[in-house]
Formats: sequence, structure tokens, C-alpha cells
Amino acid sequence: MTVGKFITFEGIDGAGKSTHLAFAADFLRARGRQVVVTREPGGTPLGEKLRELLLQEKMHLETEALLMFAARREHLALLIEPALARGDWVISDRFTDASFAYQGGGRNLALDKLEVLERWVHPRLQPDLTLLFDVPLEVARQRLDATRELDKFEQEKADFFAATRREYLRRAAAFPQRFRVIDSTRPIPEIHAELENILSGI
Ligand code: ADP
Ligand code: TYD
Repeated sequence: MTVGKFITFEGIDGAGKSTHLAFAADFLRARGRQVVVTREPGGTPLGEKLRELLLQEKMHLETEALLMFAARREHLALLIEPALARGDWVISDRFTDASFAYQGGGRNLALDKLEVLERWVHPRLQPDLTLLFDVPLEVARQRLDATRELDKFEQEKADFFAATRREYLRRAAAFPQRFRVIDSTRPIPEIHAELENILSGI
């Protein structure tokens, strides 16, 4: 039985997830929660090795999807499930919604294949809360260009991100009980105020 809460951060590259993750963790810690912050792909020694491959190497889209879920299996077994069982809160920078959005939406992999992998890797567990940081593609692109060298995904074209964003929004509409869509074009302090509100309520 899980007792901690599982919160995931999602959005296209450059939407602002990383910017708000530390804020959310500090906010929850100040309210007395034990918080574990992690990311996907990654979060375990093997997962971080798979992340390097996934972010750098070109590969068949099904290989990419399988490796994402292989890293996730390890992440659940070694980090997420034990932390939740201890009563910790887990905040993950991306989870399975990213596979549906990027491999399903962006790369057009059949969603029923991803559903099979989801049922295999985490048949019961779903995030208690998923924060979807949403911005138009041009805003995300400008923010990314202003910061760092682009990885394999970040170098994709506009139509890839349009399809990725569309699939994220479709899932948010399909699972309204766990998703909150955050308009991430607003100034950072406004977004933090909204996050405080949401996190106080769960
Ligand atoms: P992600 O983790 O979603 O890829 P980041 O959090 O790394 O995105 O944000 C990308 C860039 O955009 C960073 O330089 C960050 O400072 C900036 N940024 C994030 N949110 C905002 C915002 N609301 N307004 C202006 N700039 C922002
Ligand atoms: P991210 O950690 O957001 O990258 P960065 O540290 O550069 O901000 O995510 C890594 C990339 O992996 C991102 O482009 C999305 C992609 N990804 C998938 O395609 N499928 C997945 O299932 C996951 C978890 C990530």
C-alpha cells in the first residue's frame, strides 16, 4: 500500500518544468514533508546510463519507447515505490505521460503499444498529481535557445513539438482528476503562487 504522494512534472522542452521543481520541493518540505526529487529518463544508476543513450543516440522508435520503460521499471523498483512506501513524497521531472506525448504524439508510435508497456511496468500506480506546464512552441523554443546546447529531442522540428504538446493536452483532458494545466507563459512569481495553491490542496 502506498502512503506518500507521487507528483509528476510534464511539458515540452523549455516549458519551465525544471524552473519550478525546486520551488515545489522546498514548499512541501517547509510543510513538513519528506520529499524525494527525481527525473526520467534516469533516477537510478542504470537509468542515468540509459538516459545518456536515449538523449544522444538515434534509434528505432520502438527501441526508444522500450528503453524509456526499461529505465522506468528500474526507477519504480529502486526509488519511487520504496520512497512512497516509506511515506515520502516523490516529485519526478517527467513520467509515463512523457512517453505518450513524445513517442506517441511526437513520433507517432501507436498508443496501444504504449498502453501495453504501461500496464506491464506500472499496472496500478498512477501519479496523484500531474502538473502540465504548457506554452506555445515558439515560447519554448526561444527559452531553450537562450540557455544551452540542445539534445536529440530538443533538436526536433516544430511539428514534432506540436504533436507532443497536443498529446499532452489530450491526456490532460482525458484524466482531469490528476492533471493540472499550468499556463507557463506567465511570470515565474505568478506560477509559483498557483503552485502553492495546488500543492496546499493535495
Ligand atoms: P524545462 O525544464 O521545461 O525544459 P526550464 O525550466 O529549463 O524548462 O526553462 C527553460 C528556460 O526558460 C530557463 O532559462 C528558465 O529560466 C526560463 N523560464 C522558465 N519559466 C519561465 C517563465 N515563466 N518566464 C520566463 N522565463 C522562464
Ligand atoms: P528532460 O529531463 O526534460 O531534458 P532536459 O534535462 O534537457 O530539460 O527530458 C529528457 C528528454 O527525454 C525530453 O526531451 C523528453 C524525452 N522523454 C521522452 O521522449 N519520453 C519519455 O518517456 C521521457 C521520460 C522523456
